Amino acid sequence: MTGVIIGVESTAHTLSFGLVSSSGEPGSSYSALFRPIEGGIHPREAADHHSTAAPILVKQLMESEGLNPTDIGGIAFSQGPGLGPCLRIGATVARALSQLWNVPLIGVNHCVAHIEIGRNQTGCYDPVLLYVSGGNTQVIARAGDRYQVLGETLDIGIGNMLDKFARNQGIPFPGGPKIEILASEWHSDNPNADVDDIPLPYSVQGMDLNFSGILNAAQQRINEGHELGAVCWSLQEHSFAACVEVAERALAHTGKNELLLGGGVACNERLREMTKLMCNQRGSIGTWPEKRFCVDNGTMIAELGRRMLDTSAATPFTASEVNPSLRTDHTIVTWD
Ligand code: ATP
Ligand code: FE2
Repeated sequence: MTGVIIGVESTAHTLSFGLVSSSGEPGSSYSALFRPIEGGIHPREAADHHSTAAPILVKQLMESEGLNPTDIGGIAFSQGPGLGPCLRIGATVARALSQLWNVPLIGVNHCVAHIEIGRNQTGCYDPVLLYVSGGNTQVIARAGDRYQVLGETLDIGIGNMLDKFARNQGIPFPGGPKIEILASEWHSDNPNADVDDIPLPYSVQGMDLNFSGILNAAQQRINEGHELGAVCWSLQEHSFAACVEVAERALAHTGKNELLLGGGVACNERLREMTKLMCNQRGSIGTWPEKRFCVDNGTMIAELGRRMLDTSAATPFTASEVNPSLRTDHTIVTWD
C-alpha cells in the first residue's frame, strides 16, 4: 500500500480527521468538539455541528499537511458503535472523499481503533485493554481472531457518569478533566483523607460494572453538605478502583501481562497511577498512549484502517452503512 491513510471519527461529540503514513507513523488530528449549551448531547444537534465542521477540517488537514489527493492511499471511517446521526455524517463525508479522490474506503470499528492506536503508540503486543470513555467502559482482550469483551458496564459509561455528575454541579462538558483537578487539589489539602469518609457504592458484579448508583450517591453526598472536591476525589477513587479491579481479574484469567488504557478517561493521572500500582504489584506492564490518542481522534481510525487495508479488502459502498450498536467482538482481526 502507498499513500497516507486518512481517518474520519464521528461517533459522538468529536468530529476529527487524522492521518497515518503507509508505514504506521501517526500524524496530527484536526478536530472539532460539539459542546451542548445545556443538558446532554442531542444526536441531531451534534450531527449538524459535524456537517458544518467537516469541510473546514478537511481543508485544514489538506493545507496544513501539504497533501494532494494523489498522496492519499485510502480513507477510513468509524462505522460504529456510536450515535446514528453523527456516524452517518462521518460515513457520508468518507464515501464522498473516497469517490472524489478515487481511493479505497474502509469502515472500521471505533472500539478496536482505540486498541490499535494504543498498540501502535506503546509497543505492547497482546494487551488487555481497559477502555474507559464517555459512552463505553469495557475490558477487552484478544482471543483467536476477535477482541472479546471480558467485562463491561451494564448501564452508563464511566465518562458519562463523570460528565453527568459535573453537569449537576454546573461544570460544563467535558466534566472529567475538571473533576480530576478538583479531586487532586482537594487531596493535596487533605492527604490523610480516607475513602470511607465520603462513602460511595463500589459496584463490581463479576467482570461487569455499573455507574448509575455511584452517580446518585455522589449527588447525595453533595446534598448532605460534603465539599465538592471531597466528593470528586471519592468518586474517582471508587469508580477507578472498580475498573482496575476488573482489569486485574482479566489479566489473571487470560494470563496476559500487558494492560493498556484507552478512551478519554484514560487521560486521568489518578487512573494511570492506580493502573501502574496494580500492574507493578503483579509484575505486569501498565501502559497508555499520549492524551491526544486517548480521546476520540481521526488518527486512530486511520491507523486501524491502514492495518485492515494491508490485510483484507476495502469496504464496498454497499456494505458501508453505519452500525450504531456495532460490538467490539464483531470485527475479525486479520492483522498482526
Ligand atoms: P466513545 O465513543 O469511545 O465512547 P467518547 O465519545 O466518550 O468516546 P472520548 O474522547 O473517548 O469520547 O472520551 C470523552 C470522555 O473522557 C468524557 O466523558 C470526558 O469527561 C472524559 N475525560 C477526558 N479527560 C478526562 C480526565 N482527565 N479525567 C477523567 N475523564 C476524562
Ligand atoms: Fe472513543
